[in-house]
Amino acid sequence: MITISRRYAVSFLALGKRSVPMAILVIYIGFVTFALFNYRMHCIFTEPSTLIKYHLLEKEEADKLCRIPLDSLGVEDVDIFHDHDLNSIQHQNPLVIKGGEGKPEDCVSYQKVAIIVPYRNRYFHLKLLLSRLHPLLRKQKIHYRIFVIEQATNDSFNRGKLMNVGFKEALKEDQYDCFVFHDVDMIPENNKNLYLCDDHARHLSSAIDEMRYHVMYYNYAGGVIAMKKDVFKVINGYANSYWGWGNEDDDLSARIQEAGYLLTRPPEHIGRYKMVRHKKESRSENGYERFLGWRGRWLQDGLHSPKTMTYKVLSKSNEPLYTNITVDLLYDKNKEINVAEDTTKESLWWFLKFYFP
Ligand SMILES: *[C@@H]1O[C@H](CO)[C@@H](O)[C@H](O)[C@H]1NC(C)=O
Ligand SMILES: *[C@@H]1O[C@H](CO)[C@@H](O)[C@H](O)[C@H]1NC(C)=O
Repeated sequence: MITISRRYAVSFLALGKRSVPMAILVIYIGFVTFALFNYRMHCIFTEPSTLIKYHLLEKEEADKLCRIPLDSLGVEDVDIFHDHDLNSIQHQNPLVIKGGEGKPEDCVSYQKVAIIVPYRNRYFHLKLLLSRLHPLLRKQKIHYRIFVIEQATNDSFNRGKLMNVGFKEALKEDQYDCFVFHDVDMIPENNKNLYLCDDHARHLSSAIDEMRYHVMYYNYAGGVIAMKKDVFKVINGYANSYWGWGNEDDDLSARIQEAGYLLTRPPEHIGRYKMVRHKKESRSENGYERFLGWRGRWLQDGLHSPKTMTYKVLSKSNEPLYTNITVDLLYDKNKEINVAEDTTKESLWWFLKFYFP
């Protein structure tokens, strides 16, 4: 009895030994073929220096512009465990104007930039981000203002809608050219990573420490992304219908591509970010399912949609280091877009191509 089963086991093992490399080879060829069929270039790396096109400007205008000392900017040592004190951040950034605005004194900034930070209950992270952003933007000679958009109500966190609200509310304050949509837990490391916009969507967080400083995945558009006002309008902003964490950034990425824009990224040694660990907000229940129906929805659900872009500003205050805009996003279960009614649904092939190009 024992000998028989042993013989079986031995022959089985021998078979296994041969088929394992075979299987690996087949899988490998599968991946390569998949990648070849899938080859598209809608994400590119560009140097920060290409963001500023002095040569396209009239000489008079160009002369007034700030020259950013890119060569002298470098990597800063960021301690993500330090609990900052608002007073000391203020002390270290004495030139920041109330409301969290900074501007160069002796020259004109290339663009006027609004930083939009969706927020709820992350005070430690916010202080860390403020302590880092103010000096960085000053070194980059950028005219900016930091808007913290706080979701007041206790329904699921809606990052996309908070971004749209931030965009609209910031434009009531000033004519911004460029918007940087910024997660509160992403701390930039390299001062060379310019907080400016190009004519596409600039994904500033191209290298996150959690991913050993590589791009999370090819089409990833989360973390920190910068867009000109008009680009954001053309793509209809973020979707408003993702309640809970996840997938609203993929929806954005799909919109960007569909509208014909590229994702441009700083090289990985420049787009470095540290992600501050925390307990994640609850994940959306049907995020992936919702995302599969994005195509039929993107023009109806976003910045310009009267149905979903409803909110109420509860308070607005100019804090020393930021502008606090607290909003009720008016979640109404009955008014939400029902995924079952989606008019389109992407195929599994499309889905795989999106996440594993
Ligand atoms: C949110 O607040 C309402 C009352 O304002 C309460 O009835 C509800 O249980 C709360 N939900 C959660 C998830 O805390
Ligand atoms: C923003 O303002 C609201 C309302 O006054 C307040 O409850 C909240 O703590 C403020 N948030 C921050 C980050 O300052």
